[in-house]
Amino acid sequence: MKASSIWIIDLGSQYTQLIVRRMRELGFSSELLTFKQATQKWSEKKRPKALILSGGPRSIFEDKHDYGWCFSEPKLPVLGICYGMQIMAHRLGGEVEKGVLGEYGKTKVFLEDGIKFFPMKEFTAWMSHFDTITKLPFHFISILESQSGLRAGFIHQENPWLGLQFHPEVEHTEGGRDVLKYFCHQLARLKQDWTSDDMLNTSLEHIKAAGGGYTLAALSGGVDSLVAAVLAHQVLGKRLFCFFVDHGLARTQDVAHIQLIQKQTDLNIEIVDASKLFLDGLKGIVDPEVKRKTIGRLFIEVFENEVHALEEKHGVKFTHLLQGTLYPDVIESVSPHGDDGPSVTIKSHHNVGGLPERMKLKLMEPFRFLFKDEVRIVGRTLGLPQEWLDRHPFPGPGLGVRIMGEVTDERLERLRLSDHILYQELRSQKLYHHCWQSACIYLPVKTVGVKGDERVYEDVIALRLVQSLDGMTANIVELPWSFFHTVSARICNEVKGITRVVYDLTTKPPSTIEWE
Ligand code: XMP
Repeated sequence: MKASSIWIIDLGSQYTQLIVRRMRELGFSSELLTFKQATQKWSEKKRPKALILSGGPRSIFEDKHDYGWCFSEPKLPVLGICYGMQIMAHRLGGEVEKGVLGEYGKTKVFLEDGIKFFPMKEFTAWMSHFDTITKLPFHFISILESQSGLRAGFIHQENPWLGLQFHPEVEHTEGGRDVLKYFCHQLARLKQDWTSDDMLNTSLEHIKAAGGGYTLAALSGGVDSLVAAVLAHQVLGKRLFCFFVDHGLARTQDVAHIQLIQKQTDLNIEIVDASKLFLDGLKGIVDPEVKRKTIGRLFIEVFENEVHALEEKHGVKFTHLLQGTLYPDVIESVSPHGDDGPSVTIKSHHNVGGLPERMKLKLMEPFRFLFKDEVRIVGRTLGLPQEWLDRHPFPGPGLGVRIMGEVTDERLERLRLSDHILYQELRSQKLYHHCWQSACIYLPVKTVGVKGDERVYEDVIALRLVQSLDGMTANIVELPWSFFHTVSARICNEVKGITRVVYDLTTKPPSTIEWE
């Protein structure tokens, strides 16, 4: 990846990834670094074009970091957000008082009299702080005050240094983007350097740097693995081999989707029908964790066999495994205590964990610097149909974790048909994009009903339609009742063995999105 113009130092706030996203949306390349990483880069004489100190849960009175270098070059623009602002105040001669009167949630903020340059006058901002700045640092002036009379923003009189007590990166802050734009354009005078071409080129560089050996890609039916494969194909051509493991737990739309990709792209895709192996392997299993582990183990077994079969068939030796790993999976996250010492965890997402090492395959992860939205942009730049790029996420273990209890052929068939009805209705009523994810869940719970003039005693389908940003939290989707009427009536009429349809009303947390 080319050097990022903005370094965002993660001091432990839950919103730091959002700062990176916002900066990139505004067209500025930026990366998230722990304080340790940023200090290391700085000592290697690397310099950003601007620095952002994020929010964080700590109090400056417990913070042992030496932030001296962040303010050692007067021309380097620095933005301190929330805790970052308090660090600026503390380090540059101001005073911070511990937990006197904090602010949390939506708070009115007002521009100080006589300040002309700031883009907002009076707005609602998202606050989350306990300590308060009681004395301005040297050479700073106050520009914003909160409804409680607390300092909400200050600026240096000569250097491009700005402190904001609120979170401009959070949607709840009105005009937050304008505030960030003000910092990037007016104060820091940065040049935009993050376009769809930059995203594409960054990803291509990764693929090229791998050296061009024979590469495998396991398509999941999702967006990331598909866009990665289409991109890698541009570099590797016939040296890229893709396969899709049909574990028999896919939805009707997934298999159709892969067949369409097979037809409409130049990708060399093999569909491996392993459904019997999986369905036999799942017989009698009821416990969700055992189910997941069984599916994972069988996937690795099929994967390994397929690699050997392809190597033999084509007389090649694979060197790389292509994966659609995303930026949130690889950034080092600072612990909730804002500590980037030993408690740092590296999140790494390997769909076929353990296998690449065993098979001596090197990972090729062209999207390890991109967010999902950016992968969609790359896909669009490559000319892939919007419909392929906007698909809802679908879990690796597929319908296996959407059938409560044992997975049987009969339940699978009923669930697949119900899910297809839900999908058709969402598409035809143009509601598909109102949901981040949509699912039918099979409940093998007998309830009484009437079909025709007959009493029936049959199973239940639950609908799970959620709104989410990244799957970490989720809300239910409020769709018109007429939609639910149609789906429910169609499922009860068209799917044998189902007489009742219910809607899951729970948010995440406490419930997860998938039921198992
Ligand atoms: P939960 O159920 O944890 O799911 O709220 C959050 C998101 O992750 C997806 N999910 C998975 N995706 N393999 C995957 O590739 C899995 O084992 C898996 N489990 C859950 C889920 O569909 C939702 O989007």
